[in-house]
Amino acid sequence: MSTTYKKLLSENKHWATEQVKLDPDFFNRLSHIQTPEFLWIGCSDSRVPADKITGTQPGEIFVHRNIANLVVNTDINLLSVLEYAVEVLKVKHIIVCGHYGCGGIRAAMENRSLGIIDKWLRNIKDVYRIHKSEIDKELNLDDKANKLVELNVREQIVNLAKTSIVQKAWKYEQRPHLHGWVYGLNDGIIKPVCEMGPGTHIDPIYEYDNL
Ligand code: CO
Repeated sequence: MSTTYKKLLSENKHWATEQVKLDPDFFNRLSHIQTPEFLWIGCSDSRVPADKITGTQPGEIFVHRNIANLVVNTDINLLSVLEYAVEVLKVKHIIVCGHYGCGGIRAAMENRSLGIIDKWLRNIKDVYRIHKSEIDKELNLDDKANKLVELNVREQIVNLAKTSIVQKAWKYEQRPHLHGWVYGLNDGIIKPVCEMGPGTHIDPIYEYDNL
């Protein structure tokens, strides 16, 4: 039986000890309160760790991750995270961060059924259909997939703006700012692809007038 998991526990002890050496009050302080300024919605991919790639410390970033960083309006998990982050933690920024070379995006472009995940990836197929003419301008499959990665992030930002949670915070507290980013697995660099400030108008059919 593999015991690689034991390394995680020993690394953890080492990390906790080092942390106390650097900052004796670290755990005491963090155990009482968290005041993150950012909500991160990213891909579950193990190569895109939110805190590492942004140099953020424990307590600085509230994280939700799922396959292909989707904002689905029936996902009670995402909605709970979003509501808590916006209404209780009062985050100033929400970041949706996709990444080039995303397996979820690639799988959504294919026609093979993969099981339960088909239902999840269906959301990406919808993004593909909406932006088909733009994606099909790209000539090879990798470029098409990378274009879909960017358009997917844009679409998820719009999905955030469609929620009553974000619209309410925009109306009464002029926050949060929404940011769509794409991370490059090849170079570790994040490319901003879109932004939406409080009060941005989206298609009026999605705007609630009684919040
Ligand atoms: Co991914």
